[in-house]
Amino acid sequence: MLEIIILAAGKGTRMKSNRPKVMHLLAGRPLVQHVIDRARELSAGKIHLVVGHGAEQVESALADADLTFSLQAQQLGTGHAVMQALDKLQADSRVLILYGDVPLIRSATLAQLIELAGDTSMGLLTVNLANPTGYGRILRAADGAVTAIVEQKDATAEQLAITEGNSGVMAVTAKQLRRWLPQLSSQNAQGEYYLTDVIALAAAEGTQIKTVLAADEIEVLGINDRAQQAQLERAFQLQQANKLMQQGLTLLDPTRFDLRGQLSVGQDCIIDINCIFEGDCVLEEGVEIGPNCVIKNARIGAGTHIYANTTVEDSQIDAGCSIGPYARLRPGTHLKAQAKIGNFVETKKAVIGEGSKVNHLSYIGDAFLGDDVNVGAGTITCNYDGVNKHVTQVGNNCFVGANSTLVAPIKVGDNATIAAGSTITTSVHKDELVVARTRQRHIEGWQRPAKKK
Ligand code: UD1
Ligand code: CA
Repeated sequence: MLEIIILAAGKGTRMKSNRPKVMHLLAGRPLVQHVIDRARELSAGKIHLVVGHGAEQVESALADADLTFSLQAQQLGTGHAVMQALDKLQADSRVLILYGDVPLIRSATLAQLIELAGDTSMGLLTVNLANPTGYGRILRAADGAVTAIVEQKDATAEQLAITEGNSGVMAVTAKQLRRWLPQLSSQNAQGEYYLTDVIALAAAEGTQIKTVLAADEIEVLGINDRAQQAQLERAFQLQQANKLMQQGLTLLDPTRFDLRGQLSVGQDCIIDINCIFEGDCVLEEGVEIGPNCVIKNARIGAGTHIYANTTVEDSQIDAGCSIGPYARLRPGTHLKAQAKIGNFVETKKAVIGEGSKVNHLSYIGDAFLGDDVNVGAGTITCNYDGVNKHVTQVGNNCFVGANSTLVAPIKVGDNATIAAGSTITTSVHKDELVVARTRQRHIEGWQRPAKKK
């Protein structure tokens, strides 16, 4: 059986944060969540997390996941961290060790490493780094065999010149760990039990150390500070952008695109700059999205255009709609085909029927609008009486004049017309015109007040 240990107990001092490091976000998800997702792709028997700093926060955030937690009460080093999970391992398991702060690792690389290590050797993922500062250095004998890892702070000037770094990922067995970990000592520059010291122990007892060199350094970069977090965020976003472009998406600028979740795209969609997609989003064929839009958990129907500076959340948009610029579609909005939502319109729990239009400056909440309804500028559904929410229903083919207020609960029958400026408090029957506003008065000879001297 394969078991995976993910180290996630460290404080992350260099982040200068109250939040445990592994809970910092990359593409909207905790760093450790990325590592867990990659681990899952290997269909391991068990995934163990070693938690310590902010353990409660980490455990509660990952509560729904089928994970086993081990507590490392004091963070005495990566070797000490692995020791905390030792009891939980089956005697004959193969074990893969991952670091919770290395989020862009690929599961294909991990599978390759596990395969190579087999049952009697061990596997180590290394990387050639342009700047290896901070990484453990891989020491090799004249014949190329790995003999040890030396940490940055313990390395001699000569060792610091080595550019092959330790990624932190290793494939071992439970038996090997049970043999090696008790032999670790904390006699080093940081006074910690280094996991990396098992390499020298393996070499000394004649266990073969097989290495895989990561093809791309981005895969093994760890996040220790905010600058590295930003660097990996950009790298990850670019990977996602490239994948989507290969699927036929036009991105006007892939460096100004952010996906914090899942996005599936039909053919010939276009996304302008600075858009953010969160949660699960689907763009059907030919959707065009203008600049600076934020789209979260939404399905956007074929041929719909969303114009600049629009936000859409937990909504369903059918085909051929037009939204924005400057529109805000809040949760529970459903636009049926060919509907139009214009500038400064807010919707919430609202169904807007086929071909209906709310073009300017309106609030439509807790409302059902039929097909071919025209809602004039400035119309407000008064859905809230200060305590409870109430529903507005408008039939097909209605015309709601500008600046009307519809005081819910209220029903407007099919084909009704509401005069501009009306405050509607009781139901409107089908086909009628309703005028509900103060009659216009003309006062002749009226004088404006004069300024007092
Ligand atoms: C570690 C490696 C180094 C490697 C680098 C790659 C050791 C001693 N050094 O250094 O060789 O090049 O990663 O990124 O392993 N952690 C615990 N408990 C602890 C200490 C750390 O769970 O007591 C966890 C941290 O949460 C983190 C991971 O282990 O997820 C790595 O710890 P970190 O302190 O970042 O190690 P590095 O100094 O980066
Ligand atoms: Ca690190």
